[in-house]
Amino acid sequence: MAASKQTGKRATTPPESHPRGNGDELHQQAGGSHPVMTTDQGIPVADNQNSLRQGPRGPTLLEDFILREKITHFDHERIPERIVHARGSAAHGYFELTRSLAAHTRARILTEVGVKTPVFTRFSTVAGGAGSVDTPRDVRGFAVKFYTREGNWDLVGNNIPVFFIQDAMKFPDLVHAVKMEPDRAFPQAASAHDTFWDFISLMPESMHMIMWAMSDRAIPRSLRMIEGFGVHSFRLLNEAGESTFVKFHWRPKLGIQSTVWDEALKLQSADNDFHRRDLFEAIQRGDFPEWELAVQLFTEEEADAFPFDHLDPTKIIPESLVPLQVIGRMVLDRWPDNFFAETEQVAFCPANVPPGIDFSNDPLLQGRLFSYLDTQLLRLGGPNFHQIPVNAPKCPFANHQRDGHMQMQVPKGRVAYDPSSLQEDSPRETPAGFRSHASADDGRKGRTRAESFADHYSQARMFFRSLETPEQAHLASALVFELSKVETLKVRVRTVSHLRNIDDSL
Ligand code: HEM
Repeated sequence: MAASKQTGKRATTPPESHPRGNGDELHQQAGGSHPVMTTDQGIPVADNQNSLRQGPRGPTLLEDFILREKITHFDHERIPERIVHARGSAAHGYFELTRSLAAHTRARILTEVGVKTPVFTRFSTVAGGAGSVDTPRDVRGFAVKFYTREGNWDLVGNNIPVFFIQDAMKFPDLVHAVKMEPDRAFPQAASAHDTFWDFISLMPESMHMIMWAMSDRAIPRSLRMIEGFGVHSFRLLNEAGESTFVKFHWRPKLGIQSTVWDEALKLQSADNDFHRRDLFEAIQRGDFPEWELAVQLFTEEEADAFPFDHLDPTKIIPESLVPLQVIGRMVLDRWPDNFFAETEQVAFCPANVPPGIDFSNDPLLQGRLFSYLDTQLLRLGGPNFHQIPVNAPKCPFANHQRDGHMQMQVPKGRVAYDPSSLQEDSPRETPAGFRSHASADDGRKGRTRAESFADHYSQARMFFRSLETPEQAHLASALVFELSKVETLKVRVRTVSHLRNIDDSL
């Protein structure tokens, strides 16, 4: 490795000159293939059954560094779970582009047809803790990390194309409302309670998402049968720096399938891990789940003519306005070797985009661009979590960031700054690097919301009316169930008053 250069190559532990278990006689197991058990310092362990005592019935000795190391490591095994999306299952696989978007973007992941890019994809519920069940009525997270040749691209989406709120300012309130109530610590992983509906009934902008969340979409039959949506508009930037807006959609090869509520309840009591087991077993038997990636592409001028604002994340762009174009496929073909190391430690972030992809001004997206790195610094314990194998780019990476908790690399040389002239191989910027779209935003500073974000019912109505009659009945039953769990009458009344604005039959 070049001096002072942080490359994608990770230090192997222990160093290759002392491979664990067969470096010398002490580490060689007599007559067996098992590696010798050692402490974390490599000291061979002779007795892993008994702690060190003063006599067979005497007190345990503080001196027992083997016991202390083992217990201490165990005591520190848990890390904070994700504040949302804590319960999840993930798999490795690949993405293959089938149609180039070279006219719209310089991102190689979207221009190099036929190239297989490794991915790691995590599905999740939102509200419950890491140990909660798989089958509650909830949104499902659908987060894909593409290890592209130009750095990691994280498409951190959900299985529902819109969101509850229009502004990041409301996200902590939304999550506090849906999570278990703070005084009683229940219900776990359920929206059917007073605080959630209190908040919702005071947030008319949530009505479109509520229609989706109360529909059968929120009780999927299998993670292999859900759609995924990037939700926000993003930008694609081509070589000339021209911008096209884009929305991303994943469509499952198996089609969308849901349970009905009665089935979801039975599954919940029969198997807490229903979706995790289903995904695991499908991959183990070689029945690899697959999705198409489709895009909706539109210009700023086209967006200006929409009867809604595409920067408002409570709105979809109907396919009748902008058709979907399929551009690739994702196949998940390998279960992680270790749940904690990979599924738990993976860190997705909507701000991770390669050159040629950029953000829109969606105020929810803008807040997310800050939130994920911030929370991961806490959850994963410091600024070097990008070196954890599941998070590390699979292309070379180099800069002058240094030190911090759990630095796994050993940067060489004197230079950890830029500009510099002392070291030939010191990393430098490149004209081909990431550039933001030179948008000409203007306006008065203020805590304002665009007038174009004001219609909260039209698309809720459009969604409800697009459902088949039995699906509408399921949605209505879901609302009856949820609101019947709400004890406060005014909350129920307020919610029903919103529903009447959507469709009187509700
Ligand atoms: C302002 C709004 C939002 C904020 C502040 C926010 C914040 C967060 C945070 C803090 C996490 C935990 C991340 C971690 O510990 O690694 C998370 C996870 C996640 N969020 Fe959001 N979120 C927001 C909106 C959304 C939206 C609109 C979507 C879908 C488009 C979404 C999808 C996800 C997914 C899929 C995960 C789980 C990622 C994983 O599998 O590890 N979030 N979010």
